[in-house]
Amino acid sequence: MASNEKNQVQTTGHTWDGDLAEYNNPLPQWWVWVFYATVVFAVVYWILYPAWPMGGGYTQGVLDYSKRARLNEAMSQEALKEKYPQRFEALNKISKMSPATILGDSDLMNFVNSSGKVLFGDNCAPCHGSGGQGVIGHYPNLADSAWLYGGTPADIKQTIVQGRNGYMPAHGDKLSKQEIEAVAMYEGSLAGEEWADDPQKVAQGKEIFHGSQAACYACHGKDGKGKEALGAPNLTDAIWFYGGEKSAVIETLTYGRDGKMPSWGDRLTENQIKILTAYVHSLGGGE
Ligand code: HEC
Ligand code: HEC
Repeated sequence: MASNEKNQVQTTGHTWDGDLAEYNNPLPQWWVWVFYATVVFAVVYWILYPAWPMGGGYTQGVLDYSKRARLNEAMSQEALKEKYPQRFEALNKISKMSPATILGDSDLMNFVNSSGKVLFGDNCAPCHGSGGQGVIGHYPNLADSAWLYGGTPADIKQTIVQGRNGYMPAHGDKLSKQEIEAVAMYEGSLAGEEWADDPQKVAQGKEIFHGSQAACYACHGKDGKGKEALGAPNLTDAIWFYGGEKSAVIETLTYGRDGKMPSWGDRLTENQIKILTAYVHSLGGGE
């Protein structure tokens, strides 16, 4: 090996083109050993554990280790029973009961309230709010006693499983501005709103409401009390989904409304749906 005079770094000894030499900078010993150790580790790992893909399968490793098998073991009914006996028993009971009978079992309702709260928080609260209070104009309040689709356990369960899509047609192209204002007046008077203070318009609106062109009564009922099968709300209770100010009602009438509740039937288990049904029912407005 030759030595480079200027900075004392060794060269490999070869020279090209007369004076072109190559420095020899060996890796530190510790680095080399760590490198060899990782190679040995990798080979040992391949032999012991699942490692290489092989067509449709993979090398299993001699230890026969499988994360999935371990998970299945930990999630098995026996393991759950052993680790969380109370939870196991409650879920087992729920699987054999209807939401209505669950509501009558006060011990079970303690469990339903705590686990329903978590389920509701994960799945429903982003729209309906953490207490089910809803957002006016967007998501209905689930904690009051006004229901678009009915508040019995069976109604609530059906809403959750299938989802709902309320369709209130737009009337902006069927009625003049003046006519829309008149129907709004009539509705306001049904709900006892203070702004509905023009008896003449109320009378005109009443005729339009029951007339064949707008046919509001077909969905909201002759008495304006709504039809749960259509999700058409009661217009006489002063509980407004889309707001009860005159401007909000006029907007509803002119442009229509199209509330969509997603379906959860294939996203939640049967037990989770029962728990949520009982939980929503007990938020305050269950029938
Ligand atoms: C993406 C927003 C969204 C999510 C998430 C959501 N909902 Fe809804 N929900 C709605 C809307 C919008 C309506 C009103 C539908 C309509 O106007 O027809 C509704 C209606 C309902 C109703 C009917 C209320 C009535 O007055 O009859 C119930 C009950 C309900 N939701 C429960 C739930 C539960 C339980 C969950 C969680 C599993 C949930 N919702 C998740 C948007 C949502
Ligand atoms: C095809 C059936 C149908 C007809 C016809 C209909 N509605 Fe509706 N209406 C609905 C439904 C369904 C909703 C709820 C919409 C939703 O859930 O998004 C609704 C909502 C409303 C609301 C909002 C209530 C609230 O709580 O905010 C008002 C007001 C209303 N309708 C008034 C009328 C009037 C007035 C007419 C006649 C001009 C009429 N509707 C015609 C089905 C109908």
